[in-house]
This record gives sequence, structure tokens and C-alpha cells, in this order.
Amino acid sequence: MCGIVGYVGKKEASPVLIHGLSRLEYRGYDSAGVAIIEDNILKVTKCKGRLANLEAKLEQNPIHGSVGIGHTRWATHGEPSDLNSHPHSNEDETISVVHNGIIENYIQLREWLTAKGYKFNSETDTEVIPHLVDYYYKGNLEEAVIKAISKMDGSYAIGVVSTHEPGKLVAVRKDSPLIAGIGEGEFFIASDIPAILNYTRDVYLLNDKEFVVITKDGIKLLSEEGDEIKKDIFHVTWNADAAEKGGYEHFMLKEIHEQPKAIRDTMTSRIALGKPITLDKITLTKDQLENINKIYIVACGTAYHAGIVGKYVIEKLARIPVEVDIASEFRYRNPIIDNKTLMIVISQSGETADTLAALREAKKSGARVIAVTNVVGSSVSREAHDVLYTWAGPEIAVASTKAYTTQLIAMYIIALYFAQYKETLSSEQIEEIKEAMLKLPEQTEEVLKHKEVLQKFASKNYMHRDMFFLGRGLDYAVAMEGSLKLKEISYIHSEAYAAGELKHGTIALIENGTVVIALATQEELFEKMVSNIKEVKTRGANVLAFAFEGNETIEKTVDSALYIPKTEEVLAPVLSVVPLQLLSYYMAVQKGCDVDKPRNLAKSVTVE
Ligand code: F6R
Repeated sequence: MCGIVGYVGKKEASPVLIHGLSRLEYRGYDSAGVAIIEDNILKVTKCKGRLANLEAKLEQNPIHGSVGIGHTRWATHGEPSDLNSHPHSNEDETISVVHNGIIENYIQLREWLTAKGYKFNSETDTEVIPHLVDYYYKGNLEEAVIKAISKMDGSYAIGVVSTHEPGKLVAVRKDSPLIAGIGEGEFFIASDIPAILNYTRDVYLLNDKEFVVITKDGIKLLSEEGDEIKKDIFHVTWNADAAEKGGYEHFMLKEIHEQPKAIRDTMTSRIALGKPITLDKITLTKDQLENINKIYIVACGTAYHAGIVGKYVIEKLARIPVEVDIASEFRYRNPIIDNKTLMIVISQSGETADTLAALREAKKSGARVIAVTNVVGSSVSREAHDVLYTWAGPEIAVASTKAYTTQLIAMYIIALYFAQYKETLSSEQIEEIKEAMLKLPEQTEEVLKHKEVLQKFASKNYMHRDMFFLGRGLDYAVAMEGSLKLKEISYIHSEAYAAGELKHGTIALIENGTVVIALATQEELFEKMVSNIKEVKTRGANVLAFAFEGNETIEKTVDSALYIPKTEEVLAPVLSVVPLQLLSYYMAVQKGCDVDKPRNLAKSVTVE
């Protein structure tokens, strides 16, 4: 994970780097550091802990200079400590490097360099890079970096500065994200766009092994052979405000409230009444679709939970068999894939290492791949055959909310698109679902009005150590997402269970006062769900249920209930997940947790 940023221009680099790092802290926050060239001397300041610690250090001992690199770390190799923080430098402190990724052959490289007399100070894999660049430096920094990376296996986005060429910054990526920003007489590198949006909206989206060489006079791009390459500038359409809190206490709360808009934007131009569903970037033909006999949906975490909903809806609406898999499992289990297989990868960031690797495996075996992602130009979007963007806007909070609901919308759109082609639904049925989908933004606004009930529930129950989420069918899929949300930001242990399965073991954990969140939106399964609720009630559980408006009879069985506006049953997850997100949020706030930056987590998991 980790976030990197770099600056070459006329301004003081330090505040630009700190601002950039503040926008990348979602990628990791175990330690932070900068290296700036001040009067031809490399000055490095770095320390364990949040960015605020680094800021305080820099306030005490400012560094002046207009060329620099910065890093925010999510530890992989070596515990979070001052010593393991980036940037890492060579022995005579003439070359400094920030790195996001993992150098897989670092042990061999370390031994090789040690034999040549190089000394290491940290436990990190990264430290081999400045030494390698030092070893290959013969008067040209980009040449040295090109040679250094030819020795490295693994994933990396790196930024390198050196006092040998004090006005220069060299950067390159492989399997870790990196962009370069083009401002007025100033240039940037960063792991993600929000880091530089205050300064420019013109960026290069770099491909693997493309090098950026920046000086005050300009920016050039090189291939791994060192030849100059040309690339189109990508103009970012959203502005810096989209990556600010906008008056909300936390990004997560802001992003929960942005869901009506995000849902609407994701449907725009794709879903309209009386018109066939159009998918801008999907070129799959009717014949290709006819040929498909199996779909794999592959993703991680919250995106995987969206995939579980995807399986239900694609099987139900388009009658194609779907398997859902966790990317880190899929990639190593030798799944049965051929040219009749369609793979759908879901990834908010589009950079998750396991998801990307699973995509590549499937492509190698002949599958056609559709990527559902939120980040234009991300690795999965570039490597998949087709892309369906979720137009959620930047998601900064580590806990995913609006990305999930827009991923659900993407699943419905794909399912309806297939159903339309395969004629598994009549045009009237498709119109009914579309009509219901178009009401979702407004209905989500309605659900958001229940905030206070959830806030109260959280204030009464936040001290519990365990909670359970129950549901059947699509409600079970949403229960999994609710449970993950609660765990990750409030650190309350929770489990999601298929309600009918609970009695096969887990019900032993239910005792007097255990909090159970029960979802009961699926009409056909409603009575069965009520019976399952009774089973936990009899054993002392304190049950909060979510059901559709009109199903108020559930109040007879549960301790408290919250109702969501009536929609098509398949669409219920979009509305029922919102109170679960709010519940987790308020639980975490009550417990005093750092909602946007939960411990041990990072938003973009670009390592295995
Ligand atoms: C949880 C969360 C993670 C991500 C997962 C995949 O709130 O955000 O579980 O969903 O790391 O990330 P993407 O979607 O970027 O591939």
C-alpha cells in the first residue's frame, strides 16, 4: 500500500508534499516522511505515526527547497518505526527513494549489495533501491533508475531524487499506481489524483515500466529502453472539493450522504425508461454473450460483497450461472476457465493486487473480462476487455460506502443488460425494475433521515463486544457487508450468518442481551426470517430488524425495527445497507475510534 508524492517547481516543496500526503493518508498511516534537496544537500525528515507527527517535526526544523519526495506508509516489511519509515537513502545520503509496493527479491539483492560493501539500516525491502541506484549511477539519474529496476522483482511505484542532479526527480511504476501531474512551471508525481488536485487537473496516467523524468524545465516520459514516449494528457473532471470533508465530521459520513448522487450518476446515460440499456464501454456482442456459459465475479472485501449480490441478481434476472470468489483465493485455486467464461472483477480503486492478478490469470486462460471500477485509468480498467465505471467520485474514507452501493447498481445494470440480450425477462419486467432503480436516489435520501434512531441505538449498545447480523438470500449478502463495516471501524467483533444456518452451531453464542441485527426485506423468505428471529429472541437476544415499510408486523417479534421504502426486492440491498453503514459509523464514533483511518487498515491494498 503506502502513498508517494513528489514535487519539482518554484514553490517550497515541503507544504506541497505534506498536503499531498494528507490526501494519500488513506493508503497507510503507520509513518510518514519527506526528502527535500536544500542547497544541494539531501534533507530527510521522517517519523513513526500519523502525518501530524511529521508536520510537527518539520515545523520545528523546516526544510527549504523546491524539489522533493514524500511518503505515507502501511508497513509490510519491517514494523512501523522511525528507522523503517521512508524515504530511504544511500549511505552518503546523495540518493533518496520513496516506494509503494513490495520488492520480492529484496533478500537476494540485499545479499548481493552487502557483498559489494553496501550497509543497510532498516528492515525494509525498499532500502535496496537507493543502493541499487547508487551502484548504477554513472552521471545520469534516469539511466541508473532504469538499470536498478531491471534487477527488481515485485511491485513498485517509486520516486527518486539525488543531489548529483539536484533539480531532477525520476519516477516509475510496476503494478502499483502512479500518476504525473503537469502544472504551470511545476510538476508532480503521486499515487493518486487527490494528492495533486489543488495544483493541477492535467495528468499522465502511467503504465507499467514507464518512467517520468521531471526537471524545472519540463517533464518527459521514457520507456524501459530509455526511449522518449508520447502520451495523451488526461484531464480530471472533478475538482479538489470532491476530496474535502465539506462540513462533515468524517469522510465516511460525507460519503454515506453522497450515495443518492453517486447512485444517480452511475445510472445516468445507462438506464432510461423506454430505452434499451446502453453500456458505453462494453463491446460484448450478442454472439459473444450467447457463447458465455459461466460467469466468475472476483473481488476483495466490500467489493466481494457487492459481487455476492451480483451473483443473486445475474442468476435471477439473466439465468447465467455465476460463481463469486475472493480474488486471493481464486488466483491460486486453478479455476476452470475457458473462452466461454466471462469474468467480472469489481474494484473501487482498480489497483487491488489480488484482483489484478486474478484478472490476469483469467485473461491468460481465455476468459473475457469486464472491470467494474471507480477509478478512470486504473490498472484493472486498462487491463480488462471492457469497463463499467461506477461514478461514485473519490472515496477517501477507508471504509467503503458509496463505492459499494454504486457497485450494486453496476451489478443490476449488467444483469439487466444480459437479460435484455438473452430475453430472460420481458421488456415490461425490465421496465419495472428500471423504474424502481430510478427511484433509488430519492429513497436513499429517505433512509438517511433515520439517522437519529441509529445514533440512539449506537449510544445504547456501543459497549458490546460481539454482534450478529442475520439475513436470508440478498439480505444475507447485505448482512455480510454490515458486519464487515462494523468490525473495521468500531472494532466490535461481529459475524454475519445466513439466518437458517445459525442453529447449526453459532446460536450457541447467543445469550441474554446479545445484539442481533436482522434483515428481513425478502418477501418470500419473510416468515422464515421471522421464525429465525424468534429462535434468537427466545435465547435472550436484543434484536434490531430492518424491513420494508408495510411489514410493521415484525415489531411483534423484535425489540426495535426500522423501515426502508418499498422497492423491487432485488434492489433492497441498496437501501438496506445504508442504515447498516450509519449504525457502524455511530458505533465507532461513540467508541472514539478513528473512523476514517481504522487501525491496521489501508484503503488500497496493492500488496498480496
Ligand atoms: C472495506 C473496504 C475493503 C475494500 C477492498 C477492495 O470497507 O473498503 O474491503 O473493499 O480492499 O478494494 P477495491 O475495491 O479497491 O479493490
